[in-house]
Amino acid sequence: MIRMKPILAPSMLAADFSKLGEELKMLENAGVTHVHIDVMDGHFVPNITIGPAVVRALRPVSGLVFDVHLMLKQPLRYISPFAQAGADVISFHIEADDDAADVIEEIKSFGKRPAITINPDTDAERILPYIKRCGLDMVLVMSVYPGFGGQRFMENALPKVQMLRRFAEDNDINLNIEVDGGVNISNVTQILGAGADMIVAGTDIFNHLNPVERIREYQSAFRSL
Ligand code: DX5
Ligand code: ZN
Repeated sequence: MIRMKPILAPSMLAADFSKLGEELKMLENAGVTHVHIDVMDGHFVPNITIGPAVVRALRPVSGLVFDVHLMLKQPLRYISPFAQAGADVISFHIEADDDAADVIEEIKSFGKRPAITINPDTDAERILPYIKRCGLDMVLVMSVYPGFGGQRFMENALPKVQMLRRFAEDNDINLNIEVDGGVNISNVTQILGAGADMIVAGTDIFNHLNPVERIREYQSAFRSL
């Protein structure tokens, strides 16, 4: 199967929250196409971040694809607000309270793209029925316990990515596999090699002295695959 060029989705969690609009412009000017937006509710994870109001405020100032990662105990209640605020991709956790098939349907009903996310302790096999039955074509594999940026990459994400890529190839499914947490310029090639094609990186980009330079390093790592 022909593999598409990987996509970089910088995580806004590590950006300067006092100037989010400018940060999005910086990403766009650097040739980035996607931005990863982490939404936390203080229940599913022990942290609270941003809500639909912020997504709505950012929508008119950015042409980037908004990849919204919902770390919510009850995602179903919040699909409508985030879809209407301007999310493009909406990922939710299979460990959340709601039925995953219902959440997928709700996301699709707004014309948005659903993705299922799995935590480090969750078997990737749990996603397979939804790829088969619900036509799901995007998954997000967490490589840290969700809740905070700046954590260390967990290697146990790699065999999950390999299994999912093999499953997609065996079944001729065009599956986007996103990896989130602890990604940096030193481990990204290994993550892509396992079969991921969407890369989230927060701290490694925004904490760099020159985020644009770091983005260029990712882009050249993607080209040299
Ligand atoms: C963690 C979030 C991640 C996080 C990644 O709960 O889902 O998207 O922002 O940040 P880094 O790249 O710093 O690990
Ligand atoms: Zn995330």
